[in-house]
Amino acid sequence: MSYYTLITGANGEFGHGLISKLYAQGTKIITLDLNDLDPTLVPMVEKAYRLDLMGKEGVDEIFENYDFDQIYHLAALLSTSSERIPAKACNINVMGTVGVLDRAVKQAEKNHIRVKVMFCSTIAVYGLPNLEVKAANPFVSEDQFVTPTTMYGCNKLACEHLGSYYTFNYMQLKDDPRKRDYGLDFRCIRFPGVISAFTLPTGGTSDYAPEMIHAAAKGEKYNCFVRESAKIPFITMPEAIDALMTLSQAPAEKLTRRVYNIGGFAATAGEIYALVRESFPNAPETTFNPDVARQGIVDTWPEDVNDEAARRDWGYKPTHTLRSAFTEYLLPNIKAFYANKK
Ligand SMILES: NC(=O)c1ccc[n+]([C@@H]2O[C@H](COP(=O)([O-])OP(=O)(O)OC[C@H]3O[C@@H](n4cnc5c(N)ncnc54)[C@H](O)[C@@H]3O)[C@@H](O)[C@H]2O)c1
Repeated sequence: MSYYTLITGANGEFGHGLISKLYAQGTKIITLDLNDLDPTLVPMVEKAYRLDLMGKEGVDEIFENYDFDQIYHLAALLSTSSERIPAKACNINVMGTVGVLDRAVKQAEKNHIRVKVMFCSTIAVYGLPNLEVKAANPFVSEDQFVTPTTMYGCNKLACEHLGSYYTFNYMQLKDDPRKRDYGLDFRCIRFPGVISAFTLPTGGTSDYAPEMIHAAAKGEKYNCFVRESAKIPFITMPEAIDALMTLSQAPAEKLTRRVYNIGGFAATAGEIYALVRESFPNAPETTFNPDVARQGIVDTWPEDVNDEAARRDWGYKPTHTLRSAFTEYLLPNIKAFYANKK
């Protein structure tokens, strides 16, 4: 049988890059999003469903019509939106994920295959108690400080555990006495802030970095909602997507965990701004006016993460430093992107 790949939340920032890359590999893609799929992506997919993940019938129908061996579950409300509408966020982020895991298990059982569920978690699962502890723990590993302070972080951490739960309850590896080699295979990356040259983020607390860069490229003034010294890790969107696809292709026996940190490059808002100034010298100056709530959230996230497990188990290697992310990816693409819009 030939299986399909389902992408939920396909019309978002991640979905845009992921669809093109999966399509280039010949993957048969089905998408689901609240909104219509970007018309430029439509020719790359077999079928694009405009659906609410929380609407039972429509989603059930997708799983009745297609057999999946891989699901990229991207649909979510991001951090700022989740703080604004916490109960709704919890429903979409957690119960939406449970619905995907449950349906994936049923398909795995029906077809006697492993169904991979690829999941994007976040550094928002961390909750460092104060700036002193943050400074004293510059490389936080997966199991440290997982005490999130936001609804988004709580939701994502719950999903990490639920994905592991479903895997261990519904997939037994070959060395298990029951000798079952099918079921759910949940794999998850905890991403740092993601910066794309092509899409403007909506509703993330790490959005100050991409917003600052895009505003400068458009010649607009930007008021940054964190202080210059605020430091967290970032990654470019193509690297983030490559990492997710690499983890998806990693041999199961190499994986020692279900949830992996990846670090990208760590930078302060001030360091990012210095490169913005250098790259767009004519752009209006950025001002730094920390927003108490959003700054408070960034303060609980680590300066950087320990991603040794990802490097060891599936060969993760960051491609960019902050400077090379600017010179090799962001600047050429952002300049071309806005030049085309004129
Ligand atoms: N962008 C980042 O910096 C970042 C960092 C870490 C993790 N993530 C995670 O990666 C995933 C993708 O992020 P993104 O940046 O593409 O987000 P995004 O907000 O750009 O896209 C999310 C998509 O999900 C869709 N969606 C939301 N609720 C839905 C529902 N009920 N039914 C169907 N579709 C729904 C939205 O319409 C949107 O197209 C998310 O799970 C996010 O939490 C993102």
